Amino acid sequence: MIKGIDPERIPTHIGCVMDGNGRWAEARGLARTEGHKKGEDALFEAVEGSLELGVKWLTVYAFSTENWRRPADEVRFLVNFNEDILVRRREELNDRGVRIRFAGRRDWRVPRRIIRRMDESLAMTEKNRRMTLTIAFNYGGRAEIVDAVRALVADKVPAKKIDERAIRSHLYDPEMPDPDLVIRTSGEYRISNFLLWELAYSELVFTETLWPDFTREHLYDAVREFQGRDRRFGGTAR
Ligand code: FPP
Repeated sequence: MIKGIDPERIPTHIGCVMDGNGRWAEARGLARTEGHKKGEDALFEAVEGSLELGVKWLTVYAFSTENWRRPADEVRFLVNFNEDILVRRREELNDRGVRIRFAGRRDWRVPRRIIRRMDESLAMTEKNRRMTLTIAFNYGGRAEIVDAVRALVADKVPAKKIDERAIRSHLYDPEMPDPDLVIRTSGEYRISNFLLWELAYSELVFTETLWPDFTREHLYDAVREFQGRDRRFGGTAR
């Protein structure tokens, strides 16, 4: 196994806020989009590292509900780049036993073509069980809670039946376990609307590394840090 990592205590679900692509590019005098392009390698380092460790769920924040506010050409680039990565790499993910899922709003802002690509990718990989890669696209944590409440109302669930289980079962993917570990790169100490409901008890690891420089070694470091923490879920120490 990997040095310093206890194979018995691998996080079941890791979330990644892939931040710092723009700054990576700007520091090199390149267009911000070059940072996103380099971010693809880092994404696959995270995927390969997770497979190596035996992580069952990996969720990556690819495009937030707030990212539409960026300049139109960067938005266009990011939307097309997400599609491009998906189409270019889904067969490889499928071959690796990865099930692809999506979390986010399928609203009018998401082009029909992308929705079609998402549905094709879901169908192509739905039988895979080695790991689930959830791509948070047009995702916002508050939007997810709003959508869950709307779904509860649409299902005519009476107020007294609304509890945490009812809300959880109306989130984008009711099967997805809460993340054990959330990693954010680039020295920003924020959650930025990522998995708000789900990360109530997640261990958070922040690193100065910019996303394009992220490798599986950084992932292993985060898991070592996770394994050094004492998770009490509101209780007392064991
Ligand atoms: C944050 O960097 C990164 C993003 C907004 C996009 C990340 C997306 C990818 C790496 C592609 C993922 C694709 C799939 C299919 C999962 P930033 O631009 O906010 O960087 P900055 O904070 O330095 O400006």
